Amino acid sequence: MQRILTLLLLALCATKSIGQTPLDKKIDSLLSKMSITEKIGQTSLRGTSSRVKTLPEELKQAVREGRIGSVINVLDRNNVDELQRIAVKESPHGIPLLIGRDVIHGYKTIFPIPLGQAATWNADIVERGARIAADEASTNGIRWTFAPMLDISRDPRWGRIAESTGEDPYLTSVLGIAYVKGFQGTDMTRPASIAACAKHFVGYGAAEGGRDYNSTTIPENVLRDIYLKPFKAAVDAGAATVMASFNDINGVPASGNKFLLKNILRDEWKFNGFVVSDWNGVIEMITHGYCADPKEAAYKAANAALDMEMTSTTYENNLAQLIKEGKITEAQLNDMVRNILRVKFELGLFKSPYVDRSRDSNVLSDDHRAAAKEAAIESMVLLKNNGKVLPLAKNKKIALIGPLAHAPHEQMGTWIFDGKDADAITPFTSLQQEFGNNLSFTAALAYSRDRSTANFKQAIDAAKKADVVLFFGGEESILSGEAHSRADLNLPGAQEQLIKELKSTGKPVVLVIFAGRPITLGNIFNDVDAIVMGWHPGTMAGPAVTDILTGKANPSGRLPVTWPKAAGQIPIYYNHFNTGRPATEKSFVQLDSIPVGAWQSSLGNTSHYLDLGFLPQFPFGFGLSYTTFEYSNLTVSASEIPMTGSVTIRATITNTGKRAGAEVAQLYVQDVTGDVIRPVRELKRFSRVTLEPGQKQDVSFTLKADDLAFYNQAMKSVTEPGLFRVWIGKNAADGLEGSFSTK
Ligand code: NOJ
Repeated sequence: MQRILTLLLLALCATKSIGQTPLDKKIDSLLSKMSITEKIGQTSLRGTSSRVKTLPEELKQAVREGRIGSVINVLDRNNVDELQRIAVKESPHGIPLLIGRDVIHGYKTIFPIPLGQAATWNADIVERGARIAADEASTNGIRWTFAPMLDISRDPRWGRIAESTGEDPYLTSVLGIAYVKGFQGTDMTRPASIAACAKHFVGYGAAEGGRDYNSTTIPENVLRDIYLKPFKAAVDAGAATVMASFNDINGVPASGNKFLLKNILRDEWKFNGFVVSDWNGVIEMITHGYCADPKEAAYKAANAALDMEMTSTTYENNLAQLIKEGKITEAQLNDMVRNILRVKFELGLFKSPYVDRSRDSNVLSDDHRAAAKEAAIESMVLLKNNGKVLPLAKNKKIALIGPLAHAPHEQMGTWIFDGKDADAITPFTSLQQEFGNNLSFTAALAYSRDRSTANFKQAIDAAKKADVVLFFGGEESILSGEAHSRADLNLPGAQEQLIKELKSTGKPVVLVIFAGRPITLGNIFNDVDAIVMGWHPGTMAGPAVTDILTGKANPSGRLPVTWPKAAGQIPIYYNHFNTGRPATEKSFVQLDSIPVGAWQSSLGNTSHYLDLGFLPQFPFGFGLSYTTFEYSNLTVSASEIPMTGSVTIRATITNTGKRAGAEVAQLYVQDVTGDVIRPVRELKRFSRVTLEPGQKQDVSFTLKADDLAFYNQAMKSVTEPGLFRVWIGKNAADGLEGSFSTK
């Protein structure tokens, strides 16, 4: 009996090693020599503050003893090399460290915030930005970034919407893939490649009320159809790592969520990189009320297949004991370590652990700056342009006013640790070069929240002397990003008051917004003639916005998120359900038109607000241009397609204006009836088309039956037979309509 068992075991091992790749074999051979302490060491990511410049002795000793496998925030490359030397030369098996840092939208050359990059609707721009960030960051020893953030964000109160690519799962998937490709390249062993981290898995953007870190309640079909989609796309694109989110999903914190981390990510998707927790995410499961103590937190996280713990030390302190007690098996720990070692091998760290200093001249190079400028230009969204006040003619007298016209730090945006204010070019600097003595500048408000009206008079006098007022307002960088949620999304401080006073001079007012989220404009919408949404554009804000304002560049950004009229409308997103009583223009009974003492009835009202109706300020996908585009000739290749077939939808776009410009043609679909109700529209494809005046071009999009699938009540991904509406248009509220059926 004993012999048979041994033979079976040997056969099993043999089959396993037959299926093993040379890399698997290398990993297993290393693993077989490692002590439990060393294995647990690989699961520990130690953090230093993003500002600490010297290496603590304790950190070095922990590396020496193999108790740490990765470090976040090692500031200086000499420090990186010193730590790597200790790891490689002095730790028990010479396993190199993985050095990570948040490189979110650029390293030294800062690109627009991700929400701004999303407004380009241009995967090439995003991929290039990520490649440049990787190239620069890796010259300082960083081989792992905690990006891209793929959280679907339907709530601009949530500060981290700035770090996201907006509300749409398709757009986020396309751009998420671009980020992964950009950071990692096709070969992660290249010294200029860094491992990506798809975060935050999952649902973090659905935080209740937009309050950061808050709970989320997400039905499984919505989780799969909306929130998980971009992560699946990033995993399929080869993202090396995934970060578990801070939030709980339906009552179970992500860091200990076996359903998400094991069942979906590993078993369904076959993810073979590693999963890291967020900063202290594991120990915080105690505060969530999911674990009684650090030991239980370690147990629940490890059992959920979370491979690496960021900064808290529940693994370091408890995994060995949990293994002794048989609660976690050594095989489980081995799997965790395998996943981590695989990424280290894939990055080539065993061969080249030290910093590659040969590419220093790339950092902030002209090429990198030019790419950042192009990204900023394409990110800018023209939201309003009454009386064609823009573009500005060269001979105009400009009164440049506002707290963000010359605020280098504030134009960089959230979560920038390495970009320097001194490298940033502000709008004032660039506009002054352009307009010379025709430009006057007075900030009037020292920062975006400034409430002092002391300098208003000077600004108003300047406005009176000018042909046009350029007001640069919005939010400072620190007002969006992690833990910076807002309940009121109006322009902060005395900005609205100042804009009103400027308008009263009778001069046209152009508002340029630098902010990490849509800003509600209800109080001042009619006081400004033109609006440009610049997001936080980064290092090259000045040159980019100057090109946009003067017409050297034609705005082509499109909103990656629905723009509300007021915070009270949130959540408001384009891919909502129809409801049994959908709102229409006709059904809208305005608050003030209801007679006093009216009989208690619905008044024919439908799903809307009495005061604000149902429409947002601007729909998803919206953006104007200095030229005009017309859509014509929508054709649908077949009225009926089999489940194995495909359908092609085409339309012609014509530049009907007088300037060359780029249009983003958007394809939306509605599955009219379903086992689970379907959104009124879903973005399925898009295409940027650049056209000369008078030029026409066809856009054509092909959909397979699979592209129309959704999760039904039985939680199966299905494409059902039935009617589909399709639109090709400028935004989610526009388009030429057609239809087809599946059978
Ligand atoms: C917390 C954030 O949620 C995460 O996105 C970031 O990568 C880590 N801190 C590390 O700074």
